[in-house]
Amino acid sequence: MKSSTILGCVPALVLMSLAPVGCGSDDNSAKTPTVDPALAAMGKDIFRFDTFGDETFWTDTLHMNDVIATVDPTKALMVGLKVDAEALPAAVVAGVMDKSISLTDPKTTIALLQLNAVVGVKGTVEKVNGVDTLTRVGITCALCHSTVDDSFTKGIGKRLDAFPNPDLNPGAIIALSPALTTAQKDVYNSWGPGKYDPRYNQDMKNGPTVIPPAYGLLGVNRITVTGDGDKIEYWNRYVGVTQMGGHGNFNEPRTGVNVTNGTDDMISSKLPALQEYQLSIPAPAPPANSFDAAAADRGKMVFEGAGKCATCHSGPNLTDANSKLHDPSEVVSEPEPNDAPSYASRTATKKYRTAPLHGIWQHPPYFHNGTAATLDAVVETYDSRKSLGLTADQKSDLVQYLKSL
Ligand code: HEC
Ligand code: HEC
Repeated sequence: MKSSTILGCVPALVLMSLAPVGCGSDDNSAKTPTVDPALAAMGKDIFRFDTFGDETFWTDTLHMNDVIATVDPTKALMVGLKVDAEALPAAVVAGVMDKSISLTDPKTTIALLQLNAVVGVKGTVEKVNGVDTLTRVGITCALCHSTVDDSFTKGIGKRLDAFPNPDLNPGAIIALSPALTTAQKDVYNSWGPGKYDPRYNQDMKNGPTVIPPAYGLLGVNRITVTGDGDKIEYWNRYVGVTQMGGHGNFNEPRTGVNVTNGTDDMISSKLPALQEYQLSIPAPAPPANSFDAAAADRGKMVFEGAGKCATCHSGPNLTDANSKLHDPSEVVSEPEPNDAPSYASRTATKKYRTAPLHGIWQHPPYFHNGTAATLDAVVETYDSRKSLGLTADQKSDLVQYLKSL
């Protein structure tokens, strides 16, 4: 008799809302989750270009339009902003090449914004007294969660949606606002490139996290490093309202965050498509010849055996997130650097989610606080903190396996 009787399926069906769980190899309940391509295509535009009306914050409150108008493209690239080469007309590309268009002239920044070519920044340029003037500016999800492939030059190339931008220094950018106090500027300036504290403006604590990728999340039903939401939508609403300053509302009784911006909700209706787009983006495969395949095979054995990694990094996404979260005492990334408070303690769950590992080669540094600069450092951390006693060969094989994911 088969185990997948109707009765035997009931628990699996109940669990389906949390995880794709099957109840037998010969029925259809074990489907991998899928995405709707038309909805995802709508979400792509939202991800790249929608500000949800956050100009109210970036322009009216922070006056970033006045700041940006004084920043030339070379300086903008230095704080990690990226330029979408595909948005540049041939004449502009030629002009940059023959230097007739200057990358050290702030007017070029305004022209790039007019072309909608600055990744994650949307500007409105209008003639004021005959001069092209940046009158409104806002940001999109792509600011932090996109980079470019540098195919034109460093910082200018084709968009890589959902890749974290490791060069972006959001704190340093925000700190340029004339609307902030010195104490606030000190906090923003303390974060550095590739990091952002998405809770500082709510709980006034300072402990930035690494900007994570927004890819490879299909089937992961715990979102953020602490698993605060069971859908991407949850966190997109949080960031859209409380961090970007978009119009809409976010209410979370577990942390006491309750924010409403404006009376015109410009976020809610976009969340399903926005989520679908992110779910449609797989983790990027490792580049050819970027790891030793034989060593990676041996490393997999270490991962599943002596390293005990698979006790938490299990299943197709290499995480047990859909069934449990972990107490900070089990996790090797605390205590936080620079005496920052435990990040988990500031969140809704107070725990950490086992990180999904596909595409891990792409986004150093590792752990929510970036305390491991490389995969070698990750393995060293586990070996010492968990007293694994791995040999040098086991450690290097394990690193090769991590590079292969
Ligand atoms: C200013 C930078 C910034 C912006 C803008 C931003 N994010 Fe994030 N995002 C972060 C940081 C930092 C985290 C990590 C927070 C955590 O895990 O606690 C994060 C987490 C996430 C995650 C969770 C990933 C995971 O592994 O669970 C997703 C998905 C995401 N962001 C998507 C978006 C989308 C969509 C938008 C636009 C609505 C957006 N973000 C805007 C910085 C940003
Ligand atoms: C007790 C459960 C548990 C075990 C065992 C475990 N991990 Fe993890 N792992 C986690 C959690 C939780 C995180 C997220 C920590 C954070 O973000 O600070 C994580 C994060 C990571 C990361 C960083 C991911 C990122 O996106 O930055 C890597 C790489 C990793 N683990 C590899 C391993 C390896 C290799 C082993 C075995 C030596 C292992 N883990 C054992 C729970 C575990």
